[in-house]
Amino acid sequence: MNDLATWQEDKLPEVEKQIEDFIKTHTANEQLQESMLYSINAGGKRIRPLLLLATVAAFGKNITKQAYQVAAALEMVHTYSLIHDDLPAMDDDYLRRGQATNHVVFGEALAILAGDALLTSSFELVAEIKLEATSKNRLLHLLAKSAGASGMIAGQVRDIQSEQEQLSFSELTALHQKKTGALIRFAVVGGGILADQSERVLSQLDNFASYLGLAFQIRDDLLDELATTEKMGKKTQKDSAAGKNTYPALLGVEQAKAALTTQLAQARKILANLSFNDFDPTLLQEMIQLFELERGSQ
Ligand code: IPE
Ligand code: IPE
Ligand code: MG
Ligand code: MG
Ligand code: MG
Repeated sequence: MNDLATWQEDKLPEVEKQIEDFIKTHTANEQLQESMLYSINAGGKRIRPLLLLATVAAFGKNITKQAYQVAAALEMVHTYSLIHDDLPAMDDDYLRRGQATNHVVFGEALAILAGDALLTSSFELVAEIKLEATSKNRLLHLLAKSAGASGMIAGQVRDIQSEQEQLSFSELTALHQKKTGALIRFAVVGGGILADQSERVLSQLDNFASYLGLAFQIRDDLLDELATTEKMGKKTQKDSAAGKNTYPALLGVEQAKAALTTQLAQARKILANLSFNDFDPTLLQEMIQLFELERGSQ
């Protein structure tokens, strides 16, 4: 097993424990709790919490309970976004993380509410973290901004509005930067905030993460086109039928693959040039492999 896999196996159980403990202790209604835990426990690659923790570790800091809690909150926001993304009014999917989607099992009303609860609970969780006020405020603000009306939601709105309409390359890039890039950027910059880094460092981390965020959605678009439903645990070959704007639809598969390679090469280069006190990029460099088309789990 490589270092990254070992590291992952060591860290993820604690992230999952934080999510589960929080939901169990803060959700009054049993069915709601069941629905929230159903989507959380269905699995997923957990790439966002891993990236956050790897960024904290890159600064030579110990991974504290507080860092696990922020990582947990981030995965809760992401999981909510998937529940809502799969709803009949949005992408209308029946399979997610290898299981029936939340609304198929619990009905639309409860699925919407479980998503709402995961989102709001994530902020409740960050608010309860024992962390110095300035860092906590920054994390809350950045998480809201990344998930919200000028971040992920803005991207999701453009995604839905532009079905059956051809976006230009720059419009599509902007859409992807928001719908997927924003939370990936939060993972890296949030890790930097937890590691007590300055504005200057955070803005360089943000620049690095914006390449990763775009790469992640290009990869997702390519896998929709190229991978099997069984391998992905979600229905593939769907985007083109739904008239979605994707990199392969706009550029073709080969050029979309090239765009992914370019984004990752840029990310690697920027990371290699970051020179901060006590900063070791090794783990983050390894993590970039998870964003490659053929590497990393699906
Ligand atoms: C899928 O995200 C939705 C996108 C933003 C591309 P992931 O590919 O991270 O999904 P899980 O968490 O592994 O299920
Ligand atoms: C979803 O993008 C991005 C989110 C913010 C959830 P997709 O609609 O392409 O994600 P999948 O392919 O359903 O996982
Ligand atoms: Mg979608
Ligand atoms: Mg979708
Ligand atoms: Mg997709």
